[in-house]
Amino acid sequence: MPALTSEQIQALDPYAFLAVLGKRVIHPGGRASTDQLLAWAELQPGERALDIGCGVATTAVRLARGWRASVVAADLSPLMRERASRAVEAAGLAGQVEVAAADILNMPYPDDSFDCVIAEAVTMFVDRPRAAAELVRVCRPGGRVLATEFYWRRPPTAAAKEIFLGQVCPGLRFDGVEEWVGIYGGAGLTELRTATGPFEMMTPRGFLADEGLGAFRVMGRTLSRPAYLRKMAWLMPRMARAVPYLGYILVAGRKPDAT
Ligand SMILES: C[S@@+](CC[C@H](N)C(=O)[O-])C[C@H]1O[C@@H](n2cnc3c(N)ncnc32)[C@H](O)[C@@H]1O
Repeated sequence: MPALTSEQIQALDPYAFLAVLGKRVIHPGGRASTDQLLAWAELQPGERALDIGCGVATTAVRLARGWRASVVAADLSPLMRERASRAVEAAGLAGQVEVAAADILNMPYPDDSFDCVIAEAVTMFVDRPRAAAELVRVCRPGGRVLATEFYWRRPPTAAAKEIFLGQVCPGLRFDGVEEWVGIYGGAGLTELRTATGPFEMMTPRGFLADEGLGAFRVMGRTLSRPAYLRKMAWLMPRMARAVPYLGYILVAGRKPDAT
């Protein structure tokens, strides 16, 4: 993929921007929340998993490496898929992880295709009930569906809400825990469980916890181009206004067995 122009960098959504900088974990719960999600997934070796909205395929690679799962890592964005393919190849897992194009609202997979379906920070960007129904559709009866989402940990000020949903992530939709439980329960999942925590991905502590020494690579890359620095200088103060109100929620459930 050719180098992005300054205008293209300015127009990137925050998640694509972080991917371009080399950030690997790009969802509000961070790596520790993925640990929890994967524990709930109860994957067995050789099972088939879908990571939809896979970003740069960090979780897909973990699934393939740690659980010997056969994984489809799918994303709507060509930029993300290009980086996901690179990550999969670098991990030597090209035979086990297929990087594919898919829209969470209309996935190109038959009903009941996967033992486990994961969507970390994806549903909230689109029509949420429709996306949740689609996650359940492609999961086999008895299989697991797992998701990470944003939620408001405490009522945001009008300014914080406008900055986050109006400027930083236009189109993003989320509210409280009950609302997410209603959406995933309404999609047909049973045995629902949730966990919540603060949004720390963009704090120094969260950044280091998620990226380890890679945090310095991301910083170095940010400093390497004025367009990256300008974008970061725009993003960080806005994020900081919203962080005190933001949290992540994990939702996991089982698709009922066929009767
Ligand atoms: C916040 S990032 C999360 C990336 C990855 N799941 C992770 O946790 O690191 C959201 C991802 O969802 C993808 N995405 C957005 N809308 C989508 C859609 N309709 N279908 C599939 N993927 C989508 C974006 O391209 C991006 O990679």
